[in-house]
Amino acid sequence: MISVAIDGPAGAGKSTIARAIARDLGYLYVDTGALYRAIGLYALEQQADPQNEGQVLPLLPQLHLSLQFANGEQQVWLNGRNVSQEIRKNEVSMAASAVSAIPKVREFLFDLQQNLAKENNVVMDGRDIGTVVLPKAQVKIFLTASPEERARRRYEELQQRGQSVEYTQLLEEVRRRDYNDAHRAAAPLRRAEDALLVDTTGNSLEQSIVQLTKIVKERLQDVL
Ligand code: DC
Repeated sequence: MISVAIDGPAGAGKSTIARAIARDLGYLYVDTGALYRAIGLYALEQQADPQNEGQVLPLLPQLHLSLQFANGEQQVWLNGRNVSQEIRKNEVSMAASAVSAIPKVREFLFDLQQNLAKENNVVMDGRDIGTVVLPKAQVKIFLTASPEERARRRYEELQQRGQSVEYTQLLEEVRRRDYNDAHRAAAPLRRAEDALLVDTTGNSLEQSIVQLTKIVKERLQDVL
């Protein structure tokens, strides 16, 4: 099986780009952030503090999480509910970042992610795919963009969904999440040594998709 790992901070365009590449290659697109978001959502629903390990860990045995794929689109199911829309709410982002710092939460999701890559050719996006989850991925990309650009993209995305959040708040959240994701002890966000660094600042998503699809195809030709 072939794995393409795409890591990087929030808002670098990972999901849109990874989805487009997966479609082009006929691979399964796996968005691993959705799993952390589902746990963050569940913690909020159960009135647990997502930062508090002692409150989050007892929830894990009650959690039935699965990813399902319909027409190439990933759905996240949490205890029999399709939560694919709910996990995109802005308040869930911080909760996801908080629970993702808990090592046992990461362990809990590890097999699920690895098994998907054992059974399918995948383009998997996240923070630690190239470093921890799929260290043997045939292609690894680390995607980034400036915090301002990422906050602006997030602002536009939320506006399109009818959620109004101040740009300055989003910029602050992008910075805070970057800091949390890069400084946590468990699987911090960092570029794998063999990952190609691509900065999408100043590029439209279309341009980035064309550029990245070309890079991934070239790399796959070299390794296959
Ligand atoms: O990609 P995203 O914004 O949907 O991810 C939500 C949070 O989950 C993010 O703050 C970091 C965390 N995450 C992670 O720690 N490891 C991953 N492989 C994917 C996401």
